[in-house]
Order: sequence, then C-alpha cells, then structure tokens
Amino acid sequence: METNPPASRTHTEDDNRHVVHHHHGHQDVFPETTILVVVIPIVIVVLLIAISLIVALLRRVKSSSKPNGNSQDNTNCMFVAHSIITFNANPDAKGGCLYGGSQCSLPSATYKGVQVFTYKELESATDGFTESNVVGKGGFGTVYRGVLRDGTLSAIKMLHKEGKQAERAFRSEVDLLSRLQCPYLVDLLGYCADNQHKLMVFEYMSNGTLHDHLHLSDRSSSVLNWGIRMRIALDCARALEFLHEHTIPSVIHRDFKSTNILLDENFRGKVSDFGLAKIGSDKQNGLISTRVLGTTGYLAPEYASTGKLTTKSDVYSYGVVLLELLTGRVPIDTKRPPGEHVLVSWALPRLTNRVEVAEMVDPTLQGQLSRKDLIQVAAIAAMCVQTEADYRPLMTDVVQSLIPIVHNLSSGSTSGSFRFSKRVSPRS
Ligand SMILES: Nc1ncnc2c1ncn2[C@@H]1O[C@H](COP(=O)(O)OP(=O)(O)OP(=O)(O)O)[C@@H](O)[C@H]1O
Ligand SMILES: [Mg+2]
Repeated sequence: METNPPASRTHTEDDNRHVVHHHHGHQDVFPETTILVVVIPIVIVVLLIAISLIVALLRRVKSSSKPNGNSQDNTNCMFVAHSIITFNANPDAKGGCLYGGSQCSLPSATYKGVQVFTYKELESATDGFTESNVVGKGGFGTVYRGVLRDGTLSAIKMLHKEGKQAERAFRSEVDLLSRLQCPYLVDLLGYCADNQHKLMVFEYMSNGTLHDHLHLSDRSSSVLNWGIRMRIALDCARALEFLHEHTIPSVIHRDFKSTNILLDENFRGKVSDFGLAKIGSDKQNGLISTRVLGTTGYLAPEYASTGKLTTKSDVYSYGVVLLELLTGRVPIDTKRPPGEHVLVSWALPRLTNRVEVAEMVDPTLQGQLSRKDLIQVAAIAAMCVQTEADYRPLMTDVVQSLIPIVHNLSSGSTSGSFRFSKRVSPRS
C-alpha cells in the first residue's frame, strides 16, 4: 500500500501536464482529474450501498439465528445476557441485604425493576407470616400470600433450608429471574436476603398449581377441560421455547413439572421455580455434565443415568406434563397395577396405537376431544418422551404444532369431525 509514495505523486503531476496537453490535441480523452471527480463519488456511493446491504444482511441473519424466532407471542420476552445483580455477599452487612452492596439499594439498578425488600416489609405484608396466609409448602420452604405496600398481591417464598445448595439455588433463581422477562414465566417482583432470611417475592398466581387441579381437586368437577389444558400446554411450550431458543446462551429449567406450572385467574399457565435452572454452555448442543437434580418421573433417561444435561432434558419433562394433561395420571403411581406405575413406560407403546391411544385419555375429558387432536397431541408427547434425546423436537416445533389445535379449540371449530368418546369405535 505504501509503495513509493513520492514517486507516484511526481508521476501524477507529470501525467496531469501530459493529459492536459493531450486534451487539447484529442477531444475524446478526459483529464485524469475529471475522471477522479466522477469515479471517486461513484465508488463511495457503491461502497456505502454495499456496507448498508451487509449490515442489513447481518441483522437479518442475527434475528433468524435461533430457529423460528418469529413466534409472535414470544416478542414480549426478553433476556439480559449479563447479570446486573452482583452477588457480593457481605455476611457482616447489618440488617441489610446481602446483594447489591449498599444494603438494599438495588432496585433502580436491576433491569426489570426487581425490588429489594427488608424483612420487616415482608413481615407486615404477610401479617407476620401468619399461618392463615400460607398458600403452600415446597422442598425449599413455605409460600405465603402477601400484600405489598403498594397494594400488589404477591406470593412470598421463604427459604427454610440451610446449606450451600439452598443458598446457591436462591442466588441463581434471583439472578436469573431478574434478567428474564417473559409473560409465560412467573414474574419475580423482588427479594430479601439479610443475614438470617432469604425470601423471594413473586406475582400471585391465584389458581395455584397445574398439579393440584389435575391430581388433587375433585376430578369430576375439574375446570380443566380439554381447551384449557391445551392452552396451558401451549403457554408452557412457549416458556420453554423462550428459555431454550430465545436466550443466549440457552437456559435449561431442569425441574419442569406440573407443580412448577402455576395458573393465573384466567387459567393461563406460567412456569416457575428456577432454583435448579442452568445456563447452557457454548459447547456443542449446550451439553453440560452435572449432578442429577430434578424430580423423579420427569427426568430424561440420559440425564438420570449419566448427568448429561441439554435442553432436550426439558423437552422430555415437557412430554411427561403433556401426558399428565392427556391422561390425568401422575408420572409415578405405585398404587396402580403392575406395568402402570411409570406413566411414560405405560403410555409410550400406546401413544402410537390408534385403538389404545383412545383408551388412555383422562375419563373426565370424555367427549371433548376430536380424534384429530388426540392423535396429534399423542404424537407430540411420544416424540418428546422418546429415549433418543436427539430425536426429541425443539420446543419451537412443539409450539408450532400446538398453535392450530388451540386456535381451533378457542374458535369453537369442529373441524375434527367427531368428538372422542371411549364408546365410539376408533375406526369410525
Ligand atoms: N407465585 C405463586 N402464586 C401462588 N401460589 C404459589 C406461587 N408460588 C408457589 N405457590 C404455591 O406454593 C406451593 C409451594 O411452592 P414451591 O415452589 O415452594 O414448591 P413445589 O413447587 O410445590 O415443590 P418443589 O419444592 O419441588 O418445587 C405451590 O405448590 C403453590 O401452591
Ligand atoms: Mg415449585
């Protein structure tokens, strides 16, 4: 590039004189300066067009780099790649929170306005954590109903467990949920973490867990009809689609199950409990080797046996929940006859059998499903729970398969021609 600059400059001056001379002699030869004046702007314009084309192309590639990023309903979802909360635990902090350094002064710093509460604030929100405000108990602690100072109804989860694993789960859940924003995930409103107490404040989900509605409530009067079940299945599929395919790196929930699917006042489903969630590595397929944590009955076989964790482990757990929705059975039920204890083992061979699949359906759904829906949902479930992880679908595929089913059900279409009923011959 820098070859002989003085020589080239001299050469140009000589040439110019030469060209001027020629110009007088020959009308068809343009002076070099004129050529430069015309050519340089053209080159600049062409370069600018090329650069803007490349930029536009790169943007397009980026936006479509995750499979099917066009799912309209996930456009409200957001993931902030880097943690805003700093976990500089300071055990000596007096009466303040462990997170965020200057005791409880984090709210303005967090991305989506996750607040930091004092223990006293949460104590008064729950009338002193009174027994009458207990809405449930889980492996990590008790959940209370509470009304925040601004009148917001909330679910306040108090961590009872001590020890490093509980502490790690608490930190990771607060950190992750502060960065995830998606209408299909239960929203974290805030938290408190002082020396003695660790609490998380969630949006209140007034209809409790999917598990309780499916398996504990009076089944004959259950409000969970086929249409509501399929909408919940789609809500949850969208939640997992967001975690797996719309965040970089992917998030693996690791404890997807019907007690972690909460229902709002309209029976729309949202996914909760990110204490075990794992942020996927950049390694191929986001494969992580880890200790096996999660819940029996929902664990993918390859994860249970080798600890190899991928987004496909969540897809398996999703398939188990879909089977719960379809059959009304719990994943493990030792009270059932031999051969029927494990839901997946019992269901898998039946899902692809046109006669037996009809016999699997939850009796409370009698007459509500079209044969078309039944076969499609059975096929999705079968693909999700298959042993070979690589052949399980992406959650995007599941979402796309469920959309028309839910759409037809909500628009009251009867395109499935006949409603499933056990008494009708499957061939009719
Ligand atoms: N945001 C919420 N709104 C309303 N109720 C809630 C909310 N979060 C939890 N609950 C209730 O509290 C109960 C306990 O929840 P928690 O997540 O601690 O445990 P779990 O999901 O039942 O079990 P595990 O500890 O295995 O996750 C739930 O079963 C549910 O009834
Ligand atoms: Mg839970």
